[in-house]
Amino acid sequence: MTGKAADIQRLATPGVRELSPYQPGKPIEELEREYGVTNVIKLASNENPLGPSLRALEAARQALSDIHRYPDGNGFALKEALARKLGVAPAQITLGNGSNDILELLARAFVLPENEVVFSEHAFAVYQIVTRAVDATAVVVKAKNWGHDLAAMRAAVNPRTRLVFIANPNNPTGTWLEAGELEAFLQAMPPHVLVAVDEAYFEYVREPGYPDTTKWLARFPNLVTMRTFSKAYGLAGLRVGYGISSPAVADILNRVRQPFNVNSVALAAATAALADTAHVTRAFENNRQGMRQLTEAFAALKLQFIPSVGNFVCVDFGRPAASLYERLLREGVIVRPVANYGMPNCLRVTVGLPEENERFIKALEKIVRSKE
Ligand SMILES: Cc1ncc(COP(=O)(O)O)c(C=O)c1O
Repeated sequence: MTGKAADIQRLATPGVRELSPYQPGKPIEELEREYGVTNVIKLASNENPLGPSLRALEAARQALSDIHRYPDGNGFALKEALARKLGVAPAQITLGNGSNDILELLARAFVLPENEVVFSEHAFAVYQIVTRAVDATAVVVKAKNWGHDLAAMRAAVNPRTRLVFIANPNNPTGTWLEAGELEAFLQAMPPHVLVAVDEAYFEYVREPGYPDTTKWLARFPNLVTMRTFSKAYGLAGLRVGYGISSPAVADILNRVRQPFNVNSVALAAATAALADTAHVTRAFENNRQGMRQLTEAFAALKLQFIPSVGNFVCVDFGRPAASLYERLLREGVIVRPVANYGMPNCLRVTVGLPEENERFIKALEKIVRSKE
């Protein structure tokens, strides 16, 4: 970097200066361009391989004819529909440009540079980004068996703590917390700490004991539950997520969000998607079968993996996985390296359609066997 560019960068806040940008999954077109391969499959970003609901697509098409108008800045119809479904008041819902937006709003509205934000090792990368972006201190608590160690997270909370992020299930590990331990954690939190429970993969989890934290909102005014239309609803490209909280917290978040943070096409599609429960059930079933297909193949190849309740699973190769990632790319299969999550020996693969899973498995077999 030239002297002038470096000077300009020194003007950024200390937290931002030391950040690395979020690393998304490699786009299909980029792999085709760079490696000259065709017929690429992408199992790298926890997207829904079935695509969106046809009802959502139709609603999006209809909304297109009105895009010369600003969206409904309050998202009335979507909030009403969500409130009905969740049994909460519309005033408890904050809509976001993806649930990432809600993460950022929380940090921006509640966290000062002298505050600390607590989250787990191997937890979703954006927690670090939103914390450092407001110059606060990130307190990263060592994981236990790849998952959140709630006792250690509780011990990390002090008078400077303002926010705790908990991903349930966590991405990229797929680990999850059950109701009893999470509820006890919330009960133990002092009133000056907000707890944001990130349930981006909620619709994929049907394990007995997995909590729906929206049911606890009346008891915990410092709880924020976050969900998204990007995963099981198949609308990642449109960017719609939401927070559910006490009206008091939603009121604060509403003050700092951009006036039209969710666009009109996204609002229409999400409202229609919410009504298409059959599509979400299909996504759940495809995921359950695909997860079985993948994990049986890992077991047959004698590969370790982290049991996951999400729509993705991490394979642990017991040695640095970067070259395996590269070789999979050459086979036209994009998965996700997770070295930036402190997991250099793992690759994360998203559950795809049965034929996509099969192609990944065949490529993996070829690569793993050629090493023997
Ligand atoms: C745990 C977790 N939270 C939040 C998100 C953000 O999703 P979005 O902004 O698309 O709603 C993701 C996406 O990968 C995630 O894995």
